[in-house]
Amino acid sequence: MALFRKKAPELTLESLPREAYPAHIGFIMDGNGRWAKKRGLPRRMGHVSGAQTFRKIVKACEARGIQSATFYAFSTENWKRPQEEVDAIMDLLRDYLKESLKDFKGENIRTKFIGDRSALAPDIVALMEEAEAETAHKTGLTLNIALNYGGRHELVGAIRMLAEQVKDGTLLAEQIDEQRVSDTLDTVGQPDPDLIIRPSGEYRTSNFLLWQSAYAEYVFMDVLWPDFSAEHLDRAILEYARRHRRFGGV
Ligand code: FPP
Repeated sequence: MALFRKKAPELTLESLPREAYPAHIGFIMDGNGRWAKKRGLPRRMGHVSGAQTFRKIVKACEARGIQSATFYAFSTENWKRPQEEVDAIMDLLRDYLKESLKDFKGENIRTKFIGDRSALAPDIVALMEEAEAETAHKTGLTLNIALNYGGRHELVGAIRMLAEQVKDGTLLAEQIDEQRVSDTLDTVGQPDPDLIIRPSGEYRTSNFLLWQSAYAEYVFMDVLWPDFSAEHLDRAILEYARRHRRFGGV
């Protein structure tokens, strides 16, 4: 006699308990250039469309009660792109920051930036600081925008800072532990990402949150970032909820 095992009920977002949601989601916004090329448009237009998707997905994260979301907007390696493309991305950031500084009052989003600000234009840095100050008291989604960010660059900065403290006698080498390193990174005080989503069909981490992603679940999706929608986000959250996270245990 054949034995039929009862099928587990299909997991849906509606039936997903709050604790099964990722607290922190990272997004590698990839595929803007290919999206534009497919349409015979300049690469810049891919970023224009990608910036609109970014706005939509920030709102979708907020609506789903996600605690933190980190978006990879510009890496330490992206300076190698043609100047025109770098300028286009920086202009999109300017526009977003100016626009959101007006809208922030109605939103419960706390905006933060990670990455090295020293190479950014002073007017952008001023807008970033204003956005951080204006939203510091907000209690909803923490939105991290990674700008001139690279995981290795961030770690080198942290190592240098700790070495300086040891050199000037304010820290003992044996006091350096995982917590101390975490507290020296740009993401200090924030939970590590539980889920990292990379669209565009590439299977790489590209120097994104290297230390913080030690136990993150990756979901790679075959969609270009400008076409990424709230439905893709829901699919990734469900995929995450199906996985069994063991953190090195059994
Ligand atoms: C990667 O796609 C994307 C980037 C390097 C830039 C991402 C920037 C934005 C979405 C705009 C940022 C704006 C705001 C407001 C945060 P790619 O160009 O490498 O795509 P490709 O691999 O298809 O060439």
